[in-house]
Amino acid sequence: MTKEEILRLDRRHVWHPCTQEKDHEALPPIPIARGDGAYLYDFDGKGYIDGVSSWWVNLFGHNHPRLNRALSKQAGKVAHHIFAGFTHEPAATLAARLCELAPPGLEKVFFTDNGSAAVEAALKMSFQYWRQTGQGEKTRFVSITEAYHGETLGALSVGGCGLYKDIYQPLLLDGFQVQGPDCFRCPYGCERESCNAECFAAMEEVVAEHHRQIAAVIIEPLIQCAAGMRIYPPIYLKKLRELCDRWRIHYIADEIAVGFGRTGRLFANEHAGVSPDLLCLSKGITGGYMPLSVVLTRQEMYDAFYDDYATLKAFLHSHSYSGNPLACALACEVLNIFTEEKILEKMVPKMAILASQKHRFEALPQVGEFRQLGLVGAIELVRDKVGKTPYPWQERRGYAVYRKALEKGALLRPLGNVVYFMPPLTIEKADLSRLVDIAYEAIVEVTAD
Ligand SMILES: Cc1ncc(COP(=O)(O)O)c(C=O)c1O
Repeated sequence: MTKEEILRLDRRHVWHPCTQEKDHEALPPIPIARGDGAYLYDFDGKGYIDGVSSWWVNLFGHNHPRLNRALSKQAGKVAHHIFAGFTHEPAATLAARLCELAPPGLEKVFFTDNGSAAVEAALKMSFQYWRQTGQGEKTRFVSITEAYHGETLGALSVGGCGLYKDIYQPLLLDGFQVQGPDCFRCPYGCERESCNAECFAAMEEVVAEHHRQIAAVIIEPLIQCAAGMRIYPPIYLKKLRELCDRWRIHYIADEIAVGFGRTGRLFANEHAGVSPDLLCLSKGITGGYMPLSVVLTRQEMYDAFYDDYATLKAFLHSHSYSGNPLACALACEVLNIFTEEKILEKMVPKMAILASQKHRFEALPQVGEFRQLGLVGAIELVRDKVGKTPYPWQERRGYAVYRKALEKGALLRPLGNVVYFMPPLTIEKADLSRLVDIAYEAIVEVTAD
């Protein structure tokens, strides 16, 4: 098909995710012809550096030879089969390898098929665990402000981004939303690098008062991604682990976005040296090839569901594509690539390139902060640097940066006033530098007034 034919059909029949479709009147979607490494190419051969790993899923670049081979090899055996009553080598291998690599104490893997589904499963599992261990009053969940855990109703209930959630409020679960860390505008006047997570007091207060009703606390470890790559220190997670232990509450870590190397470690919890009770993983798990997600948990959780059928204690949660063999085969290959190709070691100089940008970006009058963890970097645009006043959201400065960057050959997808980088971990250093330069130029042009 020509790009015009694709666009005609698209305009007529497709409803794109997370998009005001009317924006396509001015800027139609770009038909992509192929991908190669960190680049996506359109039908005119123009390349775009995928600065956001296509919604944070791509780990090792597009059209990856090893992942392509793993996919077709598994397709030649079996693409999909029911995962209740049957199993297969890629799922069994993947489960075992994840348990080896994950923070200690996580020994069981429940398969789901996208990030939100993993969050739903983790919430339900926690809830049911307490019912089946004689503490049925523990029915509510704690999350933090600006949290993002997906778009399904349970996941939205524990989310904190008004933009996605507010309209659905009447449909949502009644939980506790605690003021979370906000290091850029820290109300305690502390620095991210040296603080003692003074802001954790808000969490302590709510949990101490309501622990009898609380099943779990759910959090995105170290980076609240959708909130604008809000980075907070590991001490917050250490305190959270202690608090959950003290009051017998589950700690659910949503590493759907930050897992698989994004923060410089395989899992973000490693920075804090803590293990959650439930760990949700997705996105990078297949290198960005297929939808797959998992919930890792402890033996004790599993045991609370293990009984004669007639007790009705089983976890009766399933998705048609749970444990899909193609996706699991890809995920096994992703783990092979991590170790065999020393991905985490090779990220170090690229992390240094990002770190070296701090002074450059912060010298701009409209940049409030450049923050970074691992291969995630974020630039927060402000209307007034001293007061850290944000640009009004209606001005859509981030969207203007998106459009400028596209012209210049980069895919950035700012979150409100936050322009960020979350490129494939294998991006070439020269491409990373180019990506950063494009963002710089775009920001200068968009904030010139
Ligand atoms: C932290 C986090 N949790 C959950 C999700 C939901 O994942 P999915 O989009 O696959 O449903 C996302 C997606 O961005 C996420 O960033």
